[in-house]
Amino acid sequence: MHRVTFKIPRAGIIGLDAIDDEHEEVVECLDFVRLHIEEGSASNLRKTREACQLLLAHFKSEERLMQSHSYPHLAHHVVHHDQTLGAIYRILGNCEHIQAVGIEDLRELFRVLIDDIFSADIAFSSYLARTGVIR
Ligand SMILES: [Fe+2]
Ligand SMILES: [Fe+2]
Repeated sequence: MHRVTFKIPRAGIIGLDAIDDEHEEVVECLDFVRLHIEEGSASNLRKTREACQLLLAHFKSEERLMQSHSYPHLAHHVVHHDQTLGAIYRILGNCEHIQAVGIEDLRELFRVLIDDIFSADIAFSSYLARTGVIR
């Protein structure tokens, strides 16, 4: 078992439950695989696939939410998400290819999530704060 727990730092809290809960769900899924990494690879693969699906669904729901709040940088954020899809499919594709998940794959998926939060979602959070949606 690998010791470092995947965890979203406090600075990565967006302030909108719908988004924070989804980020948390992805992280829990990755951490679950991390804890069971030495056990059956079939179930790890299934769970990693689930984490990727959660991540993809999260991008879509985030975009819908941004649209509903008339977020002016939505188009830019969508591009960021689309560019990230490549990384997600590459990591998952490698796992599917060798029918196994390694700790480095999990770290890379975690980095994808952290990058979504810190290079894109935080700007949306500031916008929500400026417009008084969150405090
Ligand atoms: Fe995002
Ligand atoms: Fe996000």
